[in-house]
Amino acid sequence: MAIDLRSDTVTRPSQGMRDAIASALVGDDVYSDDPTVNSLEERVAELFSMEAGLFSPTGSLANQLLIRTLVNPGEELLTEERAHIVRAELGAGAVFSGITTRTWHSERGLLNADTPLALAHENAGPYLVSTTAIAVENTHNFGGGTVQPISEIARLSKEARARGISMHLDGARIWNAHVASGTPFSEFGQHFDTISVCLSKGLGAPVGSISLGSKAAIAQARIWRKRYGAGMRQVGLLAAAGHYALDHNINRLADDHALAKKMALALAAHDATLINPDHVETNIVGLDLSHAGMTAADFAARCKEKGLWISALGKSYARLVTHLDFDSAQCDEAIVIMLEVLG
Ligand SMILES: Cc1ncc(COP(=O)(O)O)c(C=O)c1O
Repeated sequence: MAIDLRSDTVTRPSQGMRDAIASALVGDDVYSDDPTVNSLEERVAELFSMEAGLFSPTGSLANQLLIRTLVNPGEELLTEERAHIVRAELGAGAVFSGITTRTWHSERGLLNADTPLALAHENAGPYLVSTTAIAVENTHNFGGGTVQPISEIARLSKEARARGISMHLDGARIWNAHVASGTPFSEFGQHFDTISVCLSKGLGAPVGSISLGSKAAIAQARIWRKRYGAGMRQVGLLAAAGHYALDHNINRLADDHALAKKMALALAAHDATLINPDHVETNIVGLDLSHAGMTAADFAARCKEKGLWISALGKSYARLVTHLDFDSAQCDEAIVIMLEVLG
């Protein structure tokens, strides 16, 4: 069986999760009648000290539903240039909501509040585009699983909001940030107007994200979810997987982080140009192959021949993501395979 480190989305529901799905109480969620969905939305909102939550099938949809509540057509959202919202949602903000974006660059996606604050231009009309929201990704996926410093988030939030600019958190992997940093979920809630979180990444649910915000924002997001055709019926089956994931799979993310670090240390010991292990803070290992004499695609193809699947995300950038279907023995095997390929 191949070792699959392409993403933390490749996990399969455990037997316990499947049992929870099978015995879920359900109702028609378009009528807000599904008790398992309702309790999951309330649970996650409470966890982050936000007013309300809304279940959606994907993190992309959760992000899109939320940013449209913050940014009017023709206004702008600022984010880091490799953020999922601008790089991997296929222009959805522009296509569906008429949102324009400008981006800033930061090493590993690491937030320094001064950069977006310098870029932001609120109330810029009638000749220039007005900034109405800033999005932060935590952890930063394409930055290599970077945990954003809570002090920078707090500083950005305080100054942006004082200037009338709203704050959105793409928290697809906020669980990893919480486990790595110890920051309470409610503290994230204080600094953002809207938050999206995913249950289908490190937490191992097959499907599901929650949009969080004020009651008014979530009421608006509910209308747009239906308008996009994502109002679902007895979806408590999936919400039950979300409850199970929250009950069982948050604290164990520390194991994923430890295995990612172990791989990074082994690879850096072989060739220090591949990765700085200090930069591996969570479950993502980003490799720079520019000095390895092969492209990321070649590296991924050769690893695949030996039974290890990884992602080539740039000419020289390969990504490995640890997850709950990856154990210590597989980690040792993965290291052997990569060292063989690197020669
Ligand atoms: C940071 C981040 N945000 C949002 C998403 C979107 O999630 P989905 O694939 O469920 O649309 C992803 C997916 O990998 C992600 O990494």
